[in-house]
Amino acid sequence: MISIEINKSSQLKEIPNPENLGFGTIFTDHMFMMDYTQDQGWHNAKIVPYGPIEFDPSMMVLHYGQETFEGLKAYKGNDGEIFLFRPEYNGQRLNDSNKRLCIPEIPIEDFIKSIEALVKIDRRWIPEGIGTALYIRPFVFATDASLKVHPAKTYKYMVILSPVGAYYTEGLNPVKIQVEEEYVRASVGGVGFAKTGGNYGAGLLAQEKAAQNGCSQVLWLDSKEHRYVEEVGTMNVFFVKEGTLITPALSGSILPGITRDSVIKIAEKLGIPVEERKIDIHEIIEASEAGQITEAFGTGTAAVISPVGTLVYQGKEYCFNHHRIGEISQKLYDLVTGIQLGEIEDLYGFRHIIR
Ligand code: COI
Repeated sequence: MISIEINKSSQLKEIPNPENLGFGTIFTDHMFMMDYTQDQGWHNAKIVPYGPIEFDPSMMVLHYGQETFEGLKAYKGNDGEIFLFRPEYNGQRLNDSNKRLCIPEIPIEDFIKSIEALVKIDRRWIPEGIGTALYIRPFVFATDASLKVHPAKTYKYMVILSPVGAYYTEGLNPVKIQVEEEYVRASVGGVGFAKTGGNYGAGLLAQEKAAQNGCSQVLWLDSKEHRYVEEVGTMNVFFVKEGTLITPALSGSILPGITRDSVIKIAEKLGIPVEERKIDIHEIIEASEAGQITEAFGTGTAAVISPVGTLVYQGKEYCFNHHRIGEISQKLYDLVTGIQLGEIEDLYGFRHIIR
């Protein structure tokens, strides 16, 4: 297990008003850093004042994108306890992403220790308003000064923290989504299941195109047939069809979302039938026309649950639940956030208390 050297900031920043946090633009007082070299492995773990880092312009990650990241949140309960939500799943997913990107794995206990130590030092930054949390961004990147395309020999692992409000300005209000038929997010055999920056960069143009059409995000289809539903924006997607919760099966090109997995487990416990399977966009359109799709929503760490009110497909609009959040979406949101905040019993062992 790593030991962490701590160098505290002598100038602490002012805590922002929890009502105007937005997402991911405010950073706390400290950050965690650790280096990897082939002879020493992961070493030099330290927490230092938050600030710019120096790098060589030829640093490999800038040229060839060899990087992975994670996203999770810390919450403060009513009695001041601090909770994480399933951080071991993030640690496992980071290592799954690392393997795909030829990046050395980080022991899960070191990953959790880095987060716990940093959150403890910056605990005064955990906001307490409704819908707020301290967003945690662990990331790993190749630091070799080299333009040769090869798996790097040196890496940096860092964790930064950002107090956040809602990811989408719409919050829990349903959004309008465009089905994207030209661009794809990821393909089977590629890196779609990994949390790596390139997947997000590849999505930007379609996001811009959707915005020009008055939509908040895109519904991604598969890369081969442009027919099977994959994700919505940066989230996993669910539909409620005749009372059954349906979501695309993890095919290799879909991110194994932690909120996705939690929603499935909670729904099953509630007795809601869940199907993880291929979902043809034509099935969704036909079922919408027949009034069988009563709800749709995206799941992710940032937004938790984001209801989809309307789908735009080939210029035609398909509306779910009169563009209002549905009963099942609301219930799942309440249960996931209730567990995250320590307000309800955690029947699943999802909550991780930082002591
Ligand atoms: C999430 O929904 O949690 C994401 O991964 C989005 C993130 C890139 C901000």
